[in-house]
Amino acid sequence: MELRDRIAVVTGGGTGMGRELVKQLAAAGCSVAACDVSGERLEETRAQAAKAAPAGTRVSAHACDVSDEREVLAFRDAVRTAHATDRVHLLFNNAGIGGGGSLFADDRAEWERTFAVDWWGVYYCTRAFLPLLVASPEARIVNTSSVNGFWASLGPATPHTAYSAAKFAVKGFSEALITDLRVHAPHVGVSLVMPGHVGTSIVANTAAVLGRPSPKEMSADDLAAMRARLKLPPGVPDDDQLRALLQQVDDDFRDKAPLSAADAAAIILDGVRAGRWRILVGDDAILLDRLVRADPERAYEPSFFEELRAQGAFALIRPS
Ligand SMILES: NC(=O)c1ccc[n+]([C@@H]2O[C@H](COP(=O)([O-])OP(=O)(O)OC[C@H]3O[C@@H](n4cnc5c(N)ncnc54)[C@H](O)[C@@H]3O)[C@@H](O)[C@H]2O)c1
Repeated sequence: MELRDRIAVVTGGGTGMGRELVKQLAAAGCSVAACDVSGERLEETRAQAAKAAPAGTRVSAHACDVSDEREVLAFRDAVRTAHATDRVHLLFNNAGIGGGGSLFADDRAEWERTFAVDWWGVYYCTRAFLPLLVASPEARIVNTSSVNGFWASLGPATPHTAYSAAKFAVKGFSEALITDLRVHAPHVGVSLVMPGHVGTSIVANTAAVLGRPSPKEMSADDLAAMRARLKLPPGVPDDDQLRALLQQVDDDFRDKAPLSAADAAAIILDGVRAGRWRILVGDDAILLDRLVRADPERAYEPSFFEELRAQGAFALIRPS
């Protein structure tokens, strides 16, 4: 699909892959309407994207929490007005957060918030923008799932239930849409994006959306709860060292990833241009897809994690 002179909607455009999608789409001459819960970061994305865009390309920024259907409908109406259009060509359902790892150890409200953003956000935006997509001569829905949409794990000792459940839902929905669109709107396609580890601030952004303190802001009680969770003895490491270690884990997720957000966005847009429904992002995602398909029964066994480590896909697995 050609990107020039099209209109795209991108959710979660404030940072990470969403920001890079907005910038690369705009640079290719595609007008973009982006939304996020973070107005400041989104405005920065808008300014960066507008600077690199050819004349006539519009980039608009909208405040919207994709897990709230009323906000999504207001976002759709604002897109219509800002771009003076009744059609859009591309919908990137990219917004997402982590969290809600365990049914036992995590707060139910957090679990449901994560599921709501990662699943209901995709569903509400697809429903809201569907008439505008169908009104275009050619259109595509691009849903970001994850490798956790086909492999529900972060490692043998790290529960990961809300995110995985939502990302599996996004995968199932997207694959089922292939037939629904073929029957009812064959000029609309769907792509399913499954990234491996991409260097973004998703860990810090998740904490902000869930109202959790950053490592630097953690109180003594927060740290005690973290110690219990990580089964650390009291006082070792001390509180300041523990804060620094937790910050390092967040920073390493962003800075030591095998793929940058810009490179991930380029892979996604190549897949969209080629009209592919299945877009694996990163060598780690390609490897994991192959290993899970080869022997699904073994996917959560210790030998599977050992094989992943042996093949260099360390970043996908949290230490046990
Ligand atoms: N980074 C990775 O390794 C990785 C791997 C697989 C899948 N993903 C998925 O890729 C997508 C993009 O993630 P990223 O890594 O670029 O993260 P990111 O945190 O850099 O970007 C996500 C953006 O979504 C926004 N957002 C969060 N909740 C929102 C809501 N309710 N409504 C609107 N916007 C909201 C955040 O403010 C942020 O700007 C997510 O769906 C994520 O689950 C990321």
